[in-house]
Amino acid sequence: MTASPPDATSGDWSAKQYTAFENERTRPVRDLVAAIPSKNVRRAVDLGCGPGNSTDVLAQRFPDAAVTGMDSSEDMVMAARKRLPRIGFEVSDIESWNPPQTFDVILANASLQWLPDHASLYPRLASKLTAGGSLAIQTPDNLEEPAHKLAREVAASSRWAAKIGDVKHPARHSAAYYYALLRPHVAQVDVWRTTYFHPLAGAAAVVEWFKGSALLPYLARLDANDKAAFIEQYKGEIAKAYPALDDGTVLLPFPRLFIVAVR
Ligand SMILES: C[S@@+](CC[C@H](N)C(=O)[O-])C[C@H]1O[C@@H](n2cnc3c(N)ncnc32)[C@H](O)[C@@H]1O
Repeated sequence: MTASPPDATSGDWSAKQYTAFENERTRPVRDLVAAIPSKNVRRAVDLGCGPGNSTDVLAQRFPDAAVTGMDSSEDMVMAARKRLPRIGFEVSDIESWNPPQTFDVILANASLQWLPDHASLYPRLASKLTAGGSLAIQTPDNLEEPAHKLAREVAASSRWAAKIGDVKHPARHSAAYYYALLRPHVAQVDVWRTTYFHPLAGAAAVVEWFKGSALLPYLARLDANDKAAFIEQYKGEIAKAYPALDDGTVLLPFPRLFIVAVR
């Protein structure tokens, strides 16, 4: 079944825009959470929980654990609270997250790519694990995919350069980098990379997908007219880079990097 786009345009995190592709976006968290080896999980937290889709998977995998979630977006936290009323969610920033207690599972699915300085962040998160606890991270590994490259190219073109030519996503690193970074702090590190191929309803749906995530830093700096014009230009490039199959479906390749570090 192909996923169709909603008709929302937003430069801020929007639970509605994000959940338009919830099934596809939740598949990696299922794969990630299934690989967590920790036993007797009593306390688990979801960092950058979004609308609660990843928290839901976490809570189902560890039904006896006290699960909490946090996100810096109020819209996302509101959606998460509505979806999972029995779970405690708070609006808070991962950058300053420093709870007094330790956790048996720390999950960060598709959130840490928004933060800089992974060199200090990842070990800091690992230090919040109990012995035998797991830090489970998934980050999109797609900065060199056409969807990101074209956003950078359009933003750097003469029409847009002054407004958004300098937008940069925080750096992401290789599997070897994260393995070497975490290994001194934990007993075991499992790293793998998967490319999903999401069947979407044409180029417009590809654009809608990235309006809910990768395009946000560009859109946040544009007014409504500019947003629409930027998206139109981007859509033209996307249609060339992601040709449709005979039935109109575009298979969106989406590489993702997974890490499970056990203390
Ligand atoms: C792509 S969504 C992932 C949502 C969910 N975890 C999932 O698996 O689908 C990224 C989330 O990270 C949140 N986020 C980004 N930067 C953050 C930060 N510094 N602190 C907390 N949350 C952050 C965003 O608000 C957004 O809800």
